Amino acid sequence: MTNPMIIQGGMGAGVSNWILAKTVSQTGQMGVVSGTAQGEILARTLQKGDPGGHYRRAIKQFPISESAQNILGEFFIPNGKPLAKPFKNLPKFTHKPVKILQELTVVANFAEVFLAKEGHNGPVGINLLEKVLLPNLYSLYGAMMAGVDYVIMGAGIPREIPGVLDKLTTHKPVCLKIPVEGATAEDDYKISFDPKSLFPAHLPELKRPDFIGIISSATLAHVLAKKASGKVNGFIVEGHTAGGHNAPPRGKLVLNEKQEPIYGNRDIVDYNKIKRIGLPFWLAGSYGSPEKLQEALDVGAQGIQVGTAFAFCEESGFSSEIKKKVIPKAKNGAALVFTDPKASPTGYPFKVVSIEGTVSENKEYLERPRICDMGYLRHLYKKQDGSLGYRCPSEPVELFVKKGGDPEETKDRKCLCNGLLANLDLAQQQKNNYTEKVFITAGDDIKSISRILKNGSFSYSATDVINYLLNGLSA
Ligand SMILES: Cc1cc2nc3c(=O)[nH]c(=O)nc-3n(C[C@H](O)[C@H](O)[C@H](O)COP(=O)(O)O)c2cc1C
Repeated sequence: MTNPMIIQGGMGAGVSNWILAKTVSQTGQMGVVSGTAQGEILARTLQKGDPGGHYRRAIKQFPISESAQNILGEFFIPNGKPLAKPFKNLPKFTHKPVKILQELTVVANFAEVFLAKEGHNGPVGINLLEKVLLPNLYSLYGAMMAGVDYVIMGAGIPREIPGVLDKLTTHKPVCLKIPVEGATAEDDYKISFDPKSLFPAHLPELKRPDFIGIISSATLAHVLAKKASGKVNGFIVEGHTAGGHNAPPRGKLVLNEKQEPIYGNRDIVDYNKIKRIGLPFWLAGSYGSPEKLQEALDVGAQGIQVGTAFAFCEESGFSSEIKKKVIPKAKNGAALVFTDPKASPTGYPFKVVSIEGTVSENKEYLERPRICDMGYLRHLYKKQDGSLGYRCPSEPVELFVKKGGDPEETKDRKCLCNGLLANLDLAQQQKNNYTEKVFITAGDDIKSISRILKNGSFSYSATDVINYLLNGLSA
């Protein structure tokens, strides 16, 4: 398999869906689905009646039909639930997730990759976040069952993942260390997954996908290449102008007058150092133009990873309402992106598009009742008795403090879980009649979308993005 020049970035949750990934992959470039919260996305889509029947078609291909039936039986509602009725609240992920959640996560990631790969031979990857650790073993296994070609991970140091991929090819038990606040050197908290106990069937050996680590420094690339538990096959070097979460600046956090983190010389990556590692690498973060693609090739990169330009194309998972609001603003240069150092409960800076009627606005944020009903970004902490507790800086402040959390930590934190699901037309209807609002992320380079739009148009396809990037390359 030769590596493609363009990687369509994995954008969670659900922005990089199978439709987008399939379209890109069919052009011979790399289409990537996001695996983040995929179980939640599948469960809600099935409760909306699975328009088009695509997920049901994919689930029927899941090798263990009993599990496929369990998922359909639990979540599928023919013709969909009444609009005003809330979606079922799933049990939250813990270090010992309940069986239906394990099955749902495996099946959901299988289905997304299956659909992205259906009917062609183009390369398909899956993107997961090291920071959203608890579902990852199940997500990886599901994606591998559908034959995923690449696993792309960042937002942390995914050192253990390459070895996990090796073991999952032969369905061996796997585990991941869990970072726990308050843990000492003697503690050894883990999440374990034994595929054969969840699916006691004889399954053929699986293909080992290539592993690509997303990094923001040469040091991190070296650590991953040398100390990972298995083979690393390449890197994406992502700068701080990229959409989604960004790595925090090196050193002490200093904010500018707009209250955004200031990045400096220490955050500039020396591509020569990355090149010397000898593995293929792609550049990301405002590289979505033919000129920047050429620049990447000139420094010895394999190519680029692009997110923002794909995020608002026809095939992406963002709702059409979002595209209608954002594209005209991007076109006339009025789309503002704020690097919010506080919004994400992960503690990483998160890029937010400022749009009226969304949680980006303080008024909307304050009107939202604080509630944590999904919990993907909860932090684990050690309780007095040594057992594990879970708290999210965006949950109700009293609860967070009761669990030993520092109230300072809760300031200006937003609920990414609910906001990101609302972005996909899968907003939860909360008990107090509050409908969750959208929360849009994009990179600093959002205005460059205007270069892809054809005369007078306010929409574009993923193929337009690929053509724009490739056709402008110097011969
Ligand atoms: C809407 C959106 C969501 C994103 N979500 C993720 C994510 O879940 N995981 C990840 O590794 N990167 C994520 N990214 C980053 C992209 O994969 C990609 O690296 C980045 O967008 C490249 O820079 P650009 O935005 O300037 O094109 C996201 C980007 C956007 C625009």
